[in-house]
Amino acid sequence: MRFWIISLAVLLTLGALVSLAIPLARGETTERPMILPDAGSTTVQGALTTGETLYQSRCLGCHAPQARFAPRHDTPEFWAKYPTDEALVQVIRSGRYPMPGFGPGAINDVQLAQIISYMHTLAKK
Ligand code: HEC
Repeated sequence: MRFWIISLAVLLTLGALVSLAIPLARGETTERPMILPDAGSTTVQGALTTGETLYQSRCLGCHAPQARFAPRHDTPEFWAKYPTDEALVQVIRSGRYPMPGFGPGAINDVQLAQIISYMHTLAKK
């Protein structure tokens, strides 16, 4: 009787180990990355890092807070003017003289969502 109980315990332990080991051997992990649907990136942090890089290369040249050439994106006034992301998408896509419009060929939808996610982190609301 004792033999059977011990065998059963050993089998159950082995079974648990094998079911853990198979996905690991296949290179899968049990932890799933968090999905940020509107930014299309696998992680929130990933979307923000990409958004920051894009913002720095495509926008900051004109919109640097110290440049005074184009409106800053960190003021409460700016965010009051653009309460929705749709309004932001609209002005970025169509442009506003002298700012050129950024069409989908220049910045695709995923990149635009990443830029806007990053812009929200600049807000001093
Ligand atoms: C060539 C310089 C330049 C670049 C590059 C540029 N902008 Fe602009 N942007 C401007 C100027 C100048 C204005 C103000 C236009 C006006 O007088 O209304 C402006 C206006 C805006 C506005 C509207 C501001 C308001 O107060 O209504 C937004 C939003 C904006 N830009 C976002 C962006 C984003 C996002 C990027 C990068 C993808 C970008 N801009 C790149 C020059 C630029």
